[in-house]
Amino acid sequence: MKGLILSGGKGTRLYPITYTRAKQLVPVANKPVLFRVIESIRDAGVSEIGIVVGNTAREIKEAVGNGSRWGVQIVYIPQEAPLGLAHAVKISHDFLGNDKFVMFLGDNVIQGGISSLIQDFERHSYNAQIVLKKVSEPQHYGVAELDDHKRIRRLVEKPRKPQSDLALVGIYMFDQNIFKAVNAIKPSWRGELEITDAIQWLVENDYDVHPYVHEGWWIDTGKPIDMLEANNRVLLETKPHVAGYIDRSSDVDALVIVEEGAEIINSVVRGPTIIGRDSRLVNAYVGPFTSIYHNCVLENIEIEHSIVMEQCTLANIPNRIEDSLIGRNVEIRYSPIKPRAYKLTVGDNSKLGLL
Ligand code: G1P
Repeated sequence: MKGLILSGGKGTRLYPITYTRAKQLVPVANKPVLFRVIESIRDAGVSEIGIVVGNTAREIKEAVGNGSRWGVQIVYIPQEAPLGLAHAVKISHDFLGNDKFVMFLGDNVIQGGISSLIQDFERHSYNAQIVLKKVSEPQHYGVAELDDHKRIRRLVEKPRKPQSDLALVGIYMFDQNIFKAVNAIKPSWRGELEITDAIQWLVENDYDVHPYVHEGWWIDTGKPIDMLEANNRVLLETKPHVAGYIDRSSDVDALVIVEEGAEIINSVVRGPTIIGRDSRLVNAYVGPFTSIYHNCVLENIEIEHSIVMEQCTLANIPNRIEDSLIGRNVEIRYSPIKPRAYKLTVGDNSKLGLL
């Protein structure tokens, strides 16, 4: 069994963060989503992993390397343009050979890992296994219609009028018959070779495609709100520990992770929350569902339900920050310089909610 991770795409819904960072490298509970994907594949016993990369190839390679950190071997498969998930499978044929494989979208976060799914697939003779999840807005996803015997009747990519509320999760398992399918289908209206169409081709040609309905949570981290939601979910499931320093006048509850070298001075921290390596809080309040990445300084501020990436300085801000996604190296501070006004240097496509 091999692993194939798809890590291309522009991440337009996460602009401006994704102007300078691949969306798969945005940290959730202080770990990039892509690292979580690699870990779930590794934990399922798969050690040969191909990562399909697009124009963010350089930074993905820099961040991930050859996989030795996780005890796996990683190779990179360049995709010249985002021509679809089925196209990504097509160009990975040399790497995959005739092995069965699991394909995992590098921006998906799922509860509970994929070990049991992989075991299930290896035990049976299914030609493909797909993961489905009940969602409230199926029109944004690939949608599966099942018959009364829970067999797949039809799969449709982003239907305008969905006939079911079962979305295709970005985790798929295939045997070599998928290559026949990806070579047989035509590009969709959006000009992409859709994996949903390839699986529909398998169904129509009597291959055995097994649907597995996932009961836990699943998040496709397309938008800032999804990132915050994934952050909430993962923080709730991460075991708290304190490796940094907390002074006596601080109040840090039992659900907080304090990473090595972090310092908490005269501050209140309520979990689930993570304070990253070498970050420093002074006279600060950090509320639940917040991830502060490494080397940040937070002084005289209050923040809650947010993700702050590395090397940020947030200081002397009179109002509490909430529901925010703050990129790396950002500085937000109270300015005493007259005139009394907001003084902003904000990148294209930023969104600010001001009081
Ligand atoms: C892709 C698939 C879609 C699936 C989704 C899951 O959508 O085409 O079928 O439901 O991933 O994350 P995309 O992210 O390309 O819009």
